[in-house]
This record gives sequence, C-alpha cells and structure tokens, in this order.
Amino acid sequence: MQGKLRVAIAGTGFGEKYAAGLLASPDVQVAGVFSRRPERAVAMADKFGIAFATRHFDDLLRIPNLDAIAIVTPNNTHAGFVRTALAAGKHVICDKPLALNAYQAADLLRLADQAGVRHLTFVPYRFSPAAAAMKQAMSDAQIGRLVNIRASWGVDLRDEPLRWRFQRKLSGPGVLADLGAHVLDLLLWWVGPIRRVLGNCKTLVPQRPAEVGGRTRPVDVPDECWALLEFAQAGVGSLALSWNATRNQQVEIEGDRGHLAYESRSLLQWLDGADRFDPVAELTLTGLGRTSPLPLPGKEQFAQPDHALGYMFGEIAAYLRGADKPDSIATFRDGLEVLKVIDALDESSETRAWVEIPTDTV
Ligand SMILES: NC(=O)c1ccc[n+]([C@@H]2O[C@H](COP(=O)([O-])OP(=O)(O)OC[C@H]3O[C@@H](n4cnc5c(N)ncnc54)[C@H](OP(=O)(O)O)[C@@H]3O)[C@@H](O)[C@H]2O)c1
Repeated sequence: MQGKLRVAIAGTGFGEKYAAGLLASPDVQVAGVFSRRPERAVAMADKFGIAFATRHFDDLLRIPNLDAIAIVTPNNTHAGFVRTALAAGKHVICDKPLALNAYQAADLLRLADQAGVRHLTFVPYRFSPAAAAMKQAMSDAQIGRLVNIRASWGVDLRDEPLRWRFQRKLSGPGVLADLGAHVLDLLLWWVGPIRRVLGNCKTLVPQRPAEVGGRTRPVDVPDECWALLEFAQAGVGSLALSWNATRNQQVEIEGDRGHLAYESRSLLQWLDGADRFDPVAELTLTGLGRTSPLPLPGKEQFAQPDHALGYMFGEIAAYLRGADKPDSIATFRDGLEVLKVIDALDESSETRAWVEIPTDTV
C-alpha cells in the first residue's frame, strides 16, 4: 500500500483511544469520525485534527480512498456496521465482543472472508507483555501437561446508571459479554479450545437509575458470573467475572511440571488516566519455581498509556497495510470462538446443565 493508511472511526467513547493510538503512527491518517450526536463527532474531530465528522455511519463510506473502518459503538450495532463496511470492501477493526452472539459473529466472519479484507477484534490485553510471556510459556509447554486453570476479574460498576451495557438487547449477556470477552480470549489463546461449560450468572443490582431523570429501571443482564470450563486439553478450569467488586485480572495455570500466575490491573482505566498504576511493575507473570516475577520482554512499550496505545495500534496498522499477522491480533475467527463460549455459558446458566461448545463454525 502506497501513502498513508486511511482509517475512519465510528464511536467517540473508547473510540478516542483508537484515534490516539492510530495517530501515533506517522503513516496513518484518521480520515473521519462518526457519533450519533453530531456535537460529539465534531468535538472528537477537533480534538484530534480529523477532517470529517458525521452523525450518519454511511457517510464514512464516502470518504475518498478510505482503507479501513474501526467500529467502537455499542455491541448491538457491531453486526450492522461491520456488514456495511465489508460490503464497501473496507478492512474492519471491530471492538469486542465482535457481535451480540455467535450466530451473528459467524456471519460476519463468512462475509469478511468473502470480501477478502483484513478483519480483527481489539483485545488490548493480548498486547501486554505479561500476556505475551504467558502465551510463549504455554506454547513452549513450560509447565508440562495441563492440570487446571483458575481465572477471575472484577470491576465495580455498582453505581453506574442504566447505560447500554446493562440492557440485554444492546449489550448481550452483561458482564459475561463485557469482561468475559477479554478473559475468554486470553484463555482460548493461551490454552486452546474449551469443550463444555457450566455457568451460574446472577443479577445482584436489579435496578439502576436512568441516565436522564434518574428514575430507576430494571436491569436484564447478569452482573456476576461463575463458571466451570472443561478444556479440550486435559484439565479443568473455572472463571469468575464480577461487576460488583474490583479484582485484578488473574489467571493461574497449573501443569504437572510447574505453575504460572498472570496478573493485570484494568488496562482500560490505565489508558483512560483514571488509574495510574505502574504496569511495568504490576503486569506480572510468576511461577516456574522462581521466587521473583518472570522477565517480561517488551515491557517498556507499556511504560506509559500513550506509548502502549501507539504500540498496539502500530501493530494493527501494519497488519492492515499487509504485514503478517502478529500473535497479539485477534481476528473475527477468534471473536467468534469467544462468543461461542459466552453463548454456551449464558444458556447453561438458564438451563442449569453443562453445554457443549459447537466445534463447527457455529
Ligand atoms: N477493547 C476494550 O478494552 C474496550 C474498552 C471499552 C469499550 N469497548 C467496547 O467499545 C464499544 C463502545 O463502548 P464505549 O464504552 O466507547 O461506549 P460509549 O462511550 O457509550 O460510546 C459509544 C459511541 O457509540 C455511539 N452510539 C451509541 N449508541 C449508538 C447507536 N444505537 N447507534 C450508533 N451509534 C451509537 C455513541 O454516540 P453518541 O454518544 O453520540 O450517542 C458514541 O459515539 C463497545 O463494544 C465496548 O464493549 C472495548
């Protein structure tokens, strides 16, 4: 590809992080931004020097020589926007979860492959040096044969108003879709396929105040999920996700020759500047009989939020320009595999029975 990679961004919430990350690469131009409310699109365009702002998603497709569209809008809008972008022959970055369910995701994967474009879902944790080191250690079978896995993560959203995340038709199954999309992606990436699951999801905060007016309304998504996971590799696992308590992202993997423990604070809050932890010290991988944390190659990329964003979106931009796929990039195929497990956990929590993960596309 000659000249700058031209990307449009749909979404002005987390979408701002895309703009900051993409614009760190000198060979990338952010050519347009969409938000439902025009003033938000204009404000983001002004902030980042983006030439075109619109409140109509389809307008993005009329930007001359546009190469790619990034979709960073609520989960229920992903499938429609991705289909539109693919029909116009654009590369697509879609934020997680790829869609509301695996049926939609399978359709998006099929359409993306047919369109012959590059496609990915953005899972920032994959880029963290601790996650990359875990991937390497697991690929090298440094812990031997898998015995068991324990994963958990929590963020405290108890005081949040009734935004789209708390409504099933807009977000899918709540905390399972939101935090589960990150942790399940890591587990599938590190350990491989999950064969069947047993889920137990609950809504501990059943009402939330509306964003406007403050009248409380019912919540129809779970905010607490516990699960048993049976991996195809011998070994059993568990997963606990919470919107009711702050708990670091933690994954422990035991094998018959050793043990690895990964830990990360919320990268989102760090990227946002809301949490000022030092990731070089606090993204950790321990185990393999050592008393101090294992060395993490590339941790200087995560020394500052702007470096980390520039590094992550630099890798993404290079991939969209035609470079080989780095291991840290999750494609629509990966997004689909995650949604198959989320759907199965959601169903299992209803039926109280183990649910098999389909091995075909869906
Ligand atoms: N990868 C990660 O770590 C990460 C982190 C955060 C979020 N996310 C994902 O990013 C996506 C967006 O989340 P967010 O927190 O940025 O949400 P947000 O702050 O609510 O922003 C959503 C954006 O989408 C627009 N929008 C809202 N409803 C829409 C609709 N029905 N149709 C079209 N556009 C609509 C909003 O426009 P107006 O404001 O103008 O109405 C805004 O520009 C979600 O899929 C979420 O899961 C991922």
